[in-house]
Amino acid sequence: MQAPANDLQLIERKRDGKELSDQQIRQLVERFVDGSLPDYQMSAFAMAVYFQSMTPEETASLTLAMLDSGSQLTWAEDEIISSKHSTGGVGDKVSLVLIPLLASCGLRIPKLSGKGLGITGGTLDKLESIKGFRTDLTIAEIQAAVERVGCCITGATHDIAPADRRLYGLRDSTATVPSVPLITSSILSKKLEENPDHLVLDVKFGRGSFMKTEESARLLARSLQATAERLGLPTQCVLSDMNQPLGKTVGNLVEVKEAIEALEGQGESRLMETVYCLAMNLYKMKDAGMDDCGIRQMFDKKISSGEARDQFEKMVSFQGGSLKNLVNTAEVRTLQATEDGFIHSIDPESLGWAIIELGGGRKQKNQPINHAVGCELLRQPGEAISEGEDWLKIYSPIDTERQRRANEYFLKAIKISPTRPEERPVILEAKT
Ligand code: URA
Repeated sequence: MQAPANDLQLIERKRDGKELSDQQIRQLVERFVDGSLPDYQMSAFAMAVYFQSMTPEETASLTLAMLDSGSQLTWAEDEIISSKHSTGGVGDKVSLVLIPLLASCGLRIPKLSGKGLGITGGTLDKLESIKGFRTDLTIAEIQAAVERVGCCITGATHDIAPADRRLYGLRDSTATVPSVPLITSSILSKKLEENPDHLVLDVKFGRGSFMKTEESARLLARSLQATAERLGLPTQCVLSDMNQPLGKTVGNLVEVKEAIEALEGQGESRLMETVYCLAMNLYKMKDAGMDDCGIRQMFDKKISSGEARDQFEKMVSFQGGSLKNLVNTAEVRTLQATEDGFIHSIDPESLGWAIIELGGGRKQKNQPINHAVGCELLRQPGEAISEGEDWLKIYSPIDTERQRRANEYFLKAIKISPTRPEERPVILEAKT
């Protein structure tokens, strides 16, 4: 019988483009988590995967090994649990609207979310702009939230996916984040910790997201869907365009306020189209008996009756927060168009960087952020605008150096053209 390969031999195998077995991948992950495999070897393994990729079988094995590094949430036998994940984008506040909306329709959604790093903000940062809101629920509290309120949005507890947390930290500092199998296993190991019955994924592409091209997002969507289904989790992927900010606001507190307005029936059209498309996919996975028109009418009614908004308030209150006094105390100023024409585009990447410069996002992990920082688009791409008209409202700290740096980004975000640009659909594929 052949002796089992040691860690170095496994890294060599991957470096040389050979396939690893389920047991070999598990060995690497287990030894990484218990500290026997040092960070430099795991980083070398990640780089080998970055260049050589993984087969679908290997990606599924890596996902399962990472899932097994932590504990999974458990649910009563008859409980049907729904899950949603977005690969993230500038202004993406979809979860803040979709989760209470679906919970008000009877779905059970314990959402584990992350903090923001780079231009795409994190759902937890947004919610932490609500005074008292806890994003560190224990496993027992997550279960209680689902039982009593139907939903929660919280961070992964310490027990959840420790292998991913540590590996992501290494990938972030070794240029190995953009690898389809590594992203797939990272996302799915965390989603599987929720122990859901079905999953909808919003895979975003474009300047305001992490996958810059439609082609790369499609590849990721295919890998996510194939791996999830190989692991027995029915999954739908939606492909959405992030070449402009989603909705009207970018920032933390401003996005929470926009989400509340959306739950009150005042949602911006592209935001609501995204919410409804994802919510429809998820609802149909739980209840295949209702047609699209009936589901849409139910969503409209939950919003117009105030039930969806009440559901958000119940979730916030369960998690220790209150929607009273959501006041933005930052300094407010506006920017004006410098010529007449049509707004050709508003670059989400530049807005994302401006918000980071003002302290509303992070350049480094664990950096504190100012939740009041944000901006609001007073006009949308495609609209006519005249020189001197306001197009952006900025909420910022009084700090001239930060404001100067942010202004460079804000000013280059808007492009005005003499002709009206073609409208781009926000949803490219409602299902992949
Ligand atoms: N989001 C994740 O959770 N993991 C990745 O690897 C990339 C994006």
